[in-house]
Amino acid sequence: MPLESVRRKIEALREEIRRHDFLYYIKDKPRISDAQYDALFRELKELEEKYPQLLSADSPTQRVGGAPVDFLPKFKHRVPLLSLESLFTEADVQAFDKRIRKEVDMSSASHLSYLVEPKFDGLSVEVVYRNGVFHQAGTRGDGETGEEVTQNVKTIKSLPLKLSGKDIPKELHLRGEVVMTVKGFEALNKKLIEEGEEPFANPRNAASGALRQLDSRITAKRPLDIYLYGLLYAENWRPKTQEEVLETLSSWGIRINPVHKKCDSLQEICDFHADLHQKRDHLDYEIDGIVAKVDDLSLQESLGARTRSPRWAFAYKFEPRKEITTVENIVVQVGRQGTLTPVAILKPVDVGGVTVSRATLHNLDIIQKLDVRLGDEVKVARAGDVIPEVIEVNHESRKDKIEEFKMPLKCPVCGSKVVREGVFFFCTGGYTCRAQVKWSIIHYASRDAMDIEGLGRETVDLLIEKGLIKNVADLYTIKKTDLLILPGFKDKKAQNLLDGIEASKKRSLSRFLYGLGIRHVGEQIARLICNHFGSLGKMERASLEEIQNIDGVGPEIARSLVDYFRDARNQKLVELLLGRGVTPQHEAKKTPSGPLLGKTFVFTGEMESMSRPEASRKIETLGGRAIDSVSKKTDYVVAGANPGSKFDKAKKLGVTILDEKEFLKMIGS
Ligand code: IVH
Repeated sequence: MPLESVRRKIEALREEIRRHDFLYYIKDKPRISDAQYDALFRELKELEEKYPQLLSADSPTQRVGGAPVDFLPKFKHRVPLLSLESLFTEADVQAFDKRIRKEVDMSSASHLSYLVEPKFDGLSVEVVYRNGVFHQAGTRGDGETGEEVTQNVKTIKSLPLKLSGKDIPKELHLRGEVVMTVKGFEALNKKLIEEGEEPFANPRNAASGALRQLDSRITAKRPLDIYLYGLLYAENWRPKTQEEVLETLSSWGIRINPVHKKCDSLQEICDFHADLHQKRDHLDYEIDGIVAKVDDLSLQESLGARTRSPRWAFAYKFEPRKEITTVENIVVQVGRQGTLTPVAILKPVDVGGVTVSRATLHNLDIIQKLDVRLGDEVKVARAGDVIPEVIEVNHESRKDKIEEFKMPLKCPVCGSKVVREGVFFFCTGGYTCRAQVKWSIIHYASRDAMDIEGLGRETVDLLIEKGLIKNVADLYTIKKTDLLILPGFKDKKAQNLLDGIEASKKRSLSRFLYGLGIRHVGEQIARLICNHFGSLGKMERASLEEIQNIDGVGPEIARSLVDYFRDARNQKLVELLLGRGVTPQHEAKKTPSGPLLGKTFVFTGEMESMSRPEASRKIETLGGRAIDSVSKKTDYVVAGANPGSKFDKAKKLGVTILDEKEFLKMIGS
């Protein structure tokens, strides 16, 4: 077949697949069967494999994710991504409306419309299209700068990689939200639990983990969805209203939330709020309220913004989900650092689709304030998270004389003495308390610490119960034969756990330090300390003064760190860990810097000496960035053998073109 006909065939297939993606993922109205779709996809893939020069970034085949990266580069937002003022009552909404009418000198009778829609409980992102093709995406971060997650966002099927329709701006920056579907979240948690891993607390955390993955192939497997709802910047497009923005985006094939309404009165806003509150458990994404935006964009502009939030929009939040049930028991849990937490065991009750059978009572102070006792009727609330709490007690319901709850004098797990510090109570058992040991191992293995795959709560319980481990260092002595005799452990599961343990030996120093579970040393603090010392040895020998002098580290943290490393039992544990092959290395902070800082590269054609991911990584280590499509702003186009259309475009735009040799010279290879 002549190349030109292949090109046409490939384009036709892409168009057809895009149309079916749109019908399936956005319109929810598929027209063909999965098998028919797969056949089209396979045909396209085969052609692209045979003619790699015709491959393009906007092809539907490019959604599967690529090679893992070492870190996510910074992403500077075109305009700051502001947050929203939260309102909780109708009176708040009235006051808001009154205030803005005053600002723009508008009487209470004149017409003012708001565009209202659900407030997603997901992650805010900026998505950039260039010439109608998906170009980049970044997380919100601090609103000014986030992390670049282009490859990950590309795997989300409801994001069109190519827009179609009239008058698409050359440069288009949109704001939207990445969410995990509730069904997908439940299935993912079920799978994680089966594999012995910790489940996520809520769909937002799960979505965040998936979106910030270093390996986009993992993101591709997670049930993420995206909705775009705001215009940040568009070249040569000046819509008049928020409604027009949504309608136009939708006409270009972009997924917007069909649940939105133009409201001409505050009553309508409140009705919309009440209506959605009722429907929230039937939606396939989590919401925590509604968002109302002044519809007229020129009015938005004259209202402007405060430092962190615009004056033209607000979030009208829902109250947390609540239900009434009774307290069947009050037990005391012993945490990782020996903290005693009272927990109410409840008669199981359904709170917004989740069965709740226990709720935290936090500490003695709160129990006394609530005055909660055995058998009481209580109201439990579940906010965003799965962990519920008792928020109210119906004292009238108490029929008998029940004694006040008292904290135990001895640890309910190991019997050691309990000491009181303010409102908190602690078990003094330390390494001898089984509960503390258990939680410290779970913490060591957790996702943000040593990230040991396959080692969740239940597996830790089992390993302790069977006497295989007494501390974290024992993890590195476990043998396959030990595991194979445990209930539920077949060859594959045992091997996965051993692989997970082995892989943890190479985690970074800051993960290791955090994983040790030193009081007051959270993830952030661990990073600060590691950046300062650079090695475990220096940290262990450091004086109180030196630690205190690290920017962001207070005296309490410094004291805790020094005490930890002075304790002979801890010294022995760290020694054991190192002796059993754990080699935590400090990773120097990788903020982009280097000779190619700020330079962008586009590849076209095939290179002989390295793959594209390798070349991209190399550029990134030198401070530059590899991107997908060519524009006037591109610094270099690297042309390998059989370059494609990007080569022609670069020539037309006058972008510097490098051949492979010149490129290698530039990166010093
Ligand atoms: S509009 C400047 N619309 O809520 C106003 N935000 O603090 C831009 N959010 O971080 C935001 N759903 O990520 C808007 N339909 C929606 C939203 C929404 C969720 C998030 C947003 C922001 C947070 C508010």
